[in-house]
Amino acid sequence: MRISVFGLGYVGVVTAACLAEMGHEIIGVDVVPEKVEAINSGESPIVEELINEITAAMAAAGRLRATTSAAEAILGSEMSIVCVGTPSDAAGKPNLDYVTRVSTEIGAALRDKADYHVVVVRSTILPGSMETVVTPALNASAGKLAGDDFGLCFHPEFLREGSSVRDFRAPPKIVIGAADARSAQALAGLYQGFPSPLFITGIKTAEMVKYADNVFHALKVAFGNEIGTLCRALGIDSHEVMTIFCQDTRLNISPAYLMPGFAYGGSCLPKDLRAMNYLARARNVEMPVIRAIQDSNDRHILRALDLVLSLGETRIGVLGLSFKPGTDDLRESPLVELVERLIGKGCRVRIHDENVALARLRGGNKAYIEARLPHISELLVGDPESVVNEAGVVIVGAALSGYADLLAGPGRGKKIIDLVRLWRQPPADDAYQGICW
Ligand SMILES: NC(=O)c1ccc[n+]([C@@H]2O[C@H](COP(=O)([O-])OP(=O)(O)OC[C@H]3O[C@@H](n4cnc5c(N)ncnc54)[C@H](O)[C@@H]3O)[C@@H](O)[C@H]2O)c1
Repeated sequence: MRISVFGLGYVGVVTAACLAEMGHEIIGVDVVPEKVEAINSGESPIVEELINEITAAMAAAGRLRATTSAAEAILGSEMSIVCVGTPSDAAGKPNLDYVTRVSTEIGAALRDKADYHVVVVRSTILPGSMETVVTPALNASAGKLAGDDFGLCFHPEFLREGSSVRDFRAPPKIVIGAADARSAQALAGLYQGFPSPLFITGIKTAEMVKYADNVFHALKVAFGNEIGTLCRALGIDSHEVMTIFCQDTRLNISPAYLMPGFAYGGSCLPKDLRAMNYLARARNVEMPVIRAIQDSNDRHILRALDLVLSLGETRIGVLGLSFKPGTDDLRESPLVELVERLIGKGCRVRIHDENVALARLRGGNKAYIEARLPHISELLVGDPESVVNEAGVVIVGAALSGYADLLAGPGRGKKIIDLVRLWRQPPADDAYQGICW
């Protein structure tokens, strides 16, 4: 393909040089003439592993050149990839001036172009920016409609400076958020033969994926450093601890515990988190990230409470009470906490939980329930259908297929607050909501 790359910084130069290496004909664009001259002389304007050699070879082969003219680049290419900077201001807001300007320039050139052209944005921008900033700027200056008259994609970049060429050649994943199927296919075509998983999704989802990634990376660094600082105070080798920690790819370095849902609880997480925070305080070790976890969890319970109360119903049905399905353990269950707060607000609550009911019958958890939660014990009902029938709002606290069948069948039409996402694709129904999807 003939591709123009706007912005010859870290992302743009690597993108341009590596695409040229794959056999495409690349024209780079930058407002800084020195960067354009560097590329045209076969020199990389950035310092990166392997990039000098690739830039020199591709310029010599005639597959990589640069210009300061957006119009020349648009008319000489079928696809444009935008890699201009999005630095943040003092409040953290990304500065979209460069993205806006480049969108206006590309749009102006598209006004005179009859052939189909695909615009791909790779700069990191907040979710919604494509819709509210990029698309209007392109449409206004092109006098055309993105998605209809020209293609538009958001395509986040996951390369890391220092190993960016290797990351470009083997990205951890390829994410394409597209306004239209034709441009998604054109962009996906660039990656034929790549072993990386490819996801074609909505534009806002693709915008958000990039931030979820980077926030998670930052969180991991902070978490590792806080555990390490505490280890140091205790004379424990943090690298040995984290090496063992990272070997667990089932529960630690894995999708486990990452799907948005409800608060954590149970007999271990709350207690052990408290113990770590206690130990850190005793050793005068600051752990602001780890210290904030419980507060975040409590706020999630409050979020659920506020949502239930906002519906104005006082008859509440709860499906699932233990902290996770498959257990009767009620210790520090966030659902118990939620039920107690609802009762405190004057709600009439009925609960179904097969395991808790069985435990009560068999005496397993009987003593605990009767000593600690006698008021809740009285609210347990054996039949989930009657819980649903009597309720103005149903709260789902356990991802059980029986509950899904009940709510899709006899319970259809009820107001549902699903804390566990019973369905992968939740019903598009105003009466159905979660608190974090
Ligand atoms: N650096 C990284 O490792 C990395 C990784 C992934 C994503 N990103 C994102 O990619 C984007 C680019 O990052 P970068 O580090 O390459 O930025 P950079 O500041 O190194 O480069 C941006 C380039 O865009 C040029 N530019 C500005 N306005 C222009 C215009 N109207 N026309 C043509 N060129 C123009 C600038 O002169 C500059 O050379 C940012 O949104 C960044 O958040 C960066």
